[in-house]
Amino acid sequence: MEKFIIEGQVPLRGSVRTNGAKNAALPIMAAALLTTEECVLENVPLVRDVWTMAELLRRLGCQVFVDDIRHRVVVRAPESTQLNAIVPADLARQMRASFLATGPILARLGQVRAPHPGGCSIGKRPVNVDIRSFSAMGARVRLFGDVYDMQADALIGKSIYLDYPSHTGTENVLLAATLAKGRTIIKHAATEPEIADLVACLTQMGARVSGVGTSYLVVDGVEALGGFHHRVMPDRIEAGTYAIAAAISRGEVVIHDIVPDHMDPLTHKLQEAGALVEIDGGDYLVRGTGRLRPVEVQTLHYPGFPTDLQTSIATLLTQADGISLIHERVFDDRLQYTSELRKLGASIAVTGHTATIQGPTPLVGTTVRALDLRCGAALILAGLVAEGVTEICDIYHIDRGYENVLSQLVGLGARVERVAFEPAAASA
Ligand code: EPU
Repeated sequence: MEKFIIEGQVPLRGSVRTNGAKNAALPIMAAALLTTEECVLENVPLVRDVWTMAELLRRLGCQVFVDDIRHRVVVRAPESTQLNAIVPADLARQMRASFLATGPILARLGQVRAPHPGGCSIGKRPVNVDIRSFSAMGARVRLFGDVYDMQADALIGKSIYLDYPSHTGTENVLLAATLAKGRTIIKHAATEPEIADLVACLTQMGARVSGVGTSYLVVDGVEALGGFHHRVMPDRIEAGTYAIAAAISRGEVVIHDIVPDHMDPLTHKLQEAGALVEIDGGDYLVRGTGRLRPVEVQTLHYPGFPTDLQTSIATLLTQADGISLIHERVFDDRLQYTSELRKLGASIAVTGHTATIQGPTPLVGTTVRALDLRCGAALILAGLVAEGVTEICDIYHIDRGYENVLSQLVGLGARVERVAFEPAAASA
């Protein structure tokens, strides 16, 4: 097992380049299941979830080559007769994005079997949107334990209203609809930029999709799709995490390769809190100023404030002068990480889906656990500002979504180490 050891209170200075977005790379890798032609994906973040998806595609019968020097993934899915209709349970239970294999396989084979997907433990994570949509398109869905078995003679395009604008659900229905017969209309679709990136890729494959970026997507099914050569969009959550690292450490960092629009909700809150933000094309400069003001944040669907940055902004607000409020409106149990921040000295009270943060509180290093991916990000940020040494255990969660976080931070001057340890010694 490994842990991060952070010696805090060093202002970060310098620049980092944003990696490709995990939550765009994963659905696009799944899109390769829709064709037997070669699919080339550039700017792929080398995070654990991407390796898991690569392995999942291999187990479904695809040839997958991950070039970890060039950050490139090449996938070639087999002919239908060789495509496996059973999503491997051990991998499916590791991440939510595993369920994105079901839409393409159902569309190509007329059958698929997959367990309920795993992922970070941040509340209920149903797949009702996917299941109801596939049923509306003609699939018969049966549940055996936690395994969905879906069969369809043919998927037929339908007008579908999503009960909830599920991010993964929208992607899954989109993937299936590209090869369905006729027109599928997805109303109340999620509008996250990662979905637009998937649509750009699908369009290159020959899919006919309109309404990109809106909550009303129209897909005209086609007979077959071709390959793609696509560059994954920059990771707005990774970029945002480094932006907050600059602000909380009272440093100055330029984050290269961002999309300014994607950063709007964070830019707005950082400025409201008193940090300096300057945007120049794809460069995002953040300077932490002396005094931070408290703010109120509510997480919402894009272009609202992203839930994936909620933990990080909350950590910043432990250093603001007064009472800040965080309302988590996307997931029903995404405030658990506050217990770890409290161990470092933060004053945070949680009532329902709202965290009340009383700042500024000096944070003091101790041993904490990354409970999930974004909890891990929050703890790194806390460690950067804490007095003394912060040890973060269970960092495998962080490896799911942040590539080379250690070298990125060290490059900015942080004193961070990654060390192996014996679990027995840790509990002693
Ligand atoms: N929901 C429903 N019904 C459904 C599906 C979801 O009510 O059928 C509810 C869930 O209970 C949850 C909310 O909708 O409260 C959000 O779920 P959604 O399906 O929209 O999100 P997701 O697909 O599970 C993706 C990202 C998350 C990100 C959210 C919101 C991937 C692989 N995951 O999750 O990323 O937080 O969208 O943008 O794309 C992360 O990267 O740390 C992460 C958790």
